[in-house]
Amino acid sequence: MRDFISVQDLSVAEIKYLLETADRFRTHDYEISKQLFAANLFFEPSTRTKMSFIVAERKLGLEPLELHAEMSSIKKGETLYDTARTFEAIGANVLVIRHEADDWMKELNEKLSIPVINAGAGTKDHPTQSLLDAYTIYQEFECFKDLNITIAGDVKHSRVARSNAEMLSKLGANVYFTGAPELMDESLGYPILTLDQAVEQSDVLMLLRIQHERHHGFIHAAIEYLEKYGLTVERERKMQNHAIILHPGPVNRGVEIDSSLVECKRSRIFNQMENGVYVRMAVLTKQLLNWGIIHDDQIKKCDTIERKQPIRAM
Ligand code: CP
Repeated sequence: MRDFISVQDLSVAEIKYLLETADRFRTHDYEISKQLFAANLFFEPSTRTKMSFIVAERKLGLEPLELHAEMSSIKKGETLYDTARTFEAIGANVLVIRHEADDWMKELNEKLSIPVINAGAGTKDHPTQSLLDAYTIYQEFECFKDLNITIAGDVKHSRVARSNAEMLSKLGANVYFTGAPELMDESLGYPILTLDQAVEQSDVLMLLRIQHERHHGFIHAAIEYLEKYGLTVERERKMQNHAIILHPGPVNRGVEIDSSLVECKRSRIFNQMENGVYVRMAVLTKQLLNWGIIHDDQIKKCDTIERKQPIRAM
């Protein structure tokens, strides 16, 4: 794999390698003994992905470069390709890109000499989010096979839904969708459950935000949406004892989930955010290694004691 663009490009072995590497980064500190720059080019708003990439880069000893799109030469009409080439020319060793276009990577056309990591592409792909979600699920269940995982909400406009459904199916889970009929996408080929079925049968209930910025004409009052399609306190009580709640964030409290459930006992929403740092460290090092920009002996273990317990090997 040249660039880290899509879950489609990842084999099961590669996914497991990345999850095991993330677990090593969770349990130990590592640092790369070479000066390297990581450019973070975010053309769409982001809090979790952008900040966790920056934390991941700093933890590894990389120097983050941050583009503020509104204050950059993008405003003067510079293209994505020319922006990316500029960062390469001034010394970036890896590019992390989020852009509203589904296929923004086609503009780069593999013409760069440094690795590119997809931090979110339109409605199509969000591979590092899928990795952190898979890692959070593995932390809980130590397996994927035959887990019932339901993705609930605005499936139609969600890159998280697409990437997660593909990754979790590859890993052996049973993936379902649920939500308002106008927000489903039957062409993806996953079974669609009623919300009541999903709540009672799922080991993992993954809620999605309504992507208002990506569509028009689906307007519900928050309370009406919550009652019809969201996770209310009453529905949460019907979940299996062991079942967990995920949400990629940002959360619309009181819309797709009752506000009191965001930090309830079965919520793993903030664990997902923490895990985002470890999986992004894993993806950054894998790309730098694949490209020969670093070698294994340049990744130094910094601590001598385990800080946290590793999870069972995948
Ligand atoms: N989950 C996610 O991508 O969040 P941000 O948009 O805040 O990065």
